[in-house]
Amino acid sequence: MTQQQKWDPQRYARNAGFVATLGMPVVELLAPQPGERILDLGCGDGVLTQKLTAMGCDVVGVDASADQIEAARERGLDAHVVDCHNLEFDKEFDAVFSNAALHWMKRPAEVIAGVRRALKPQGRFVGEFGGAGNIHQVQRALSAALTRREIDMETLWPWYFPTPEEYQAELQAAGFGVQSIELIPRPTPLPGALTDWLETFAESFLPPIPTEEHANFFQEIQDDAQASLCDEQGQWTVDYVRLRFAAIQESA
Ligand code: BEZ
Repeated sequence: MTQQQKWDPQRYARNAGFVATLGMPVVELLAPQPGERILDLGCGDGVLTQKLTAMGCDVVGVDASADQIEAARERGLDAHVVDCHNLEFDKEFDAVFSNAALHWMKRPAEVIAGVRRALKPQGRFVGEFGGAGNIHQVQRALSAALTRREIDMETLWPWYFPTPEEYQAELQAAGFGVQSIELIPRPTPLPGALTDWLETFAESFLPPIPTEEHANFFQEIQDDAQASLCDEQGQWTVDYVRLRFAAIQESA
């Protein structure tokens, strides 16, 4: 059982503002049309939800984090706290869009079934998230730091990084036709150090570690990853691999 990751919207904006900026190619793949009703799955603080709204779409954002939804509502968005494994919408959206969120949802069949129910017939499901091989170097350093403490990483691992073949099979099993699906290596420069990234995204690994050791734990991971992820100017770049897909709801 993994601990729920907590989201602090200000910390997220500071350390992960690039997430929405780099999500624009997924918006282009969605090709939203004015007047379309769109569900933004895992909308976070609503930066991309707001972009879709500005394009003339009628957008609903959902996210499991109450803090992020509050930040999205402060932008004037129609946003709701929802566990995306339990979507209750019924044939009301032209498209479901998701950027950098599906890797936090570890039961894909439940998520995809809810997306299918939420879509009108022929509705589109377009998204991007972490795919197989994502953050490999971070994972390696994390695993080493946990192993030194005799902690099993598997039970704390909060992410789902499938291969295209695995995710395509999930989509097809739920009645989607897959139009495109690909892995895209996207090394991503960070605005700060790896420890900032870990503080923002890797809380799930902290419960077995005494509070006074948390800073050392993240520093140890950063030191281990330095040779592979930090250049001579001190610029950190995380080894992201995106899984980008477009699918159509095909069955009745
Ligand atoms: C990602 O966008 O791939 C990601 C972000 C935070 C933690 C893990 C993966």
